[in-house]
Amino acid sequence: MRYSSRLPWAAPQNELTRRLAAHRAAGLPVLDLTESNPTRAGIPYPGDDLLRALADPAALTYEPTAEGLASARAAIASYHGVQPEHLLLTASTSEAYAFLLKLLCNPGDEILVPRPSYPLFEFLAAVEAVTVGQYPLHHQEGWWIDIRALEALITPRTKAIVVVSPNNPTGSYVKRAELAALEALCATHGLALISDEVFAAFSLEDPPDPLRAPPCSAKFTLNGFSKLLGLPQMKLGWIVTRDAEARTRLELIADTFLSVSAPVQHAAAHWLALHRHAFLSFMQDRLRGNLALLGNRALRVEGGWYAILRMPRTRGEEEWAIELLEHDGVLVQPGYFYDFATEAFAVVSLLTRPDVFREGISRILKRLDA
Ligand SMILES: Cc1ncc(COP(=O)(O)O)c(C=O)c1O
Repeated sequence: MRYSSRLPWAAPQNELTRRLAAHRAAGLPVLDLTESNPTRAGIPYPGDDLLRALADPAALTYEPTAEGLASARAAIASYHGVQPEHLLLTASTSEAYAFLLKLLCNPGDEILVPRPSYPLFEFLAAVEAVTVGQYPLHHQEGWWIDIRALEALITPRTKAIVVVSPNNPTGSYVKRAELAALEALCATHGLALISDEVFAAFSLEDPPDPLRAPPCSAKFTLNGFSKLLGLPQMKLGWIVTRDAEARTRLELIADTFLSVSAPVQHAAAHWLALHRHAFLSFMQDRLRGNLALLGNRALRVEGGWYAILRMPRTRGEEEWAIELLEHDGVLVQPGYFYDFATEAFAVVSLLTRPDVFREGISRILKRLDA
């Protein structure tokens, strides 16, 4: 059999992953500060109520609708303050990206994504035979998008600019002025603006930065229950767009797969009503409580589930991560996982259980002060 060359199938394991496997195989304990799975982070879920909503008898009838069931779209639209017809449901935010790439790109076309950011872009694009260009975010009392550098990357094959607001892992929201500049660029070059707002609800600054761009104002906005309700296993994401032609085309793509399950769509409105406020309030306490333990070692975090620790440049990021693992039993992600342009940074998840986070951070601070 001959396989496609879309993905680097035999990508070598990095050194940290190898050392972690050896550490665990030796039975040594790990304080994991990288937990990003909310269902493993000691969060109280109203389990019986969430499951009861999945047993709606209406789910026994198959009603194939490309855009998603009206009841689910109405509830999600009301949360966003948009009209239900502006929404198209997908099985996840990742699938929403896949649909948008099919909508906008031919094989060999390109999208521009932020750097540093979430490493999944490379794979999401590669499986669609699309390439990725990275535009820089710089840090200076907060992160900002280098619009000039971004513009210089645009080629005739560029089809879309992706922003993540707040970005993972920099925790920075896109600002109004940045949004305006990006919209102008998109208009000039005929590009789509895709705004990933999966962490938008998790604002960590009081009051929020007034310069922040309003939610759902880009051409395409992505979100989903994976982060909004901490339910990645339930598989529901969506695209918000006011562009009627794009929506009709997206419906054709969605109709080809019809990938969102009926029980989840019938449960969506109930889950939002019964779980969203409690989850958000729990998360605010968890994220802010953990962030407070980092003091001035962390870069400013405007929102989201992650924080970045500035590490001394006396060694590289991977060396730091390995040292913390092998000497202190603490697992962090080195900045290069997210393609930071400079060294040395470590990324920690603010979702981590507080007892694990407190002990892990205290060991890191001890080592840094040693
Ligand atoms: C910025 C960002 N977008 C999208 C996703 C994927 O979300 P989903 O689970 O809905 O595919 C993640 C997951 O970590 C993420 O960090």
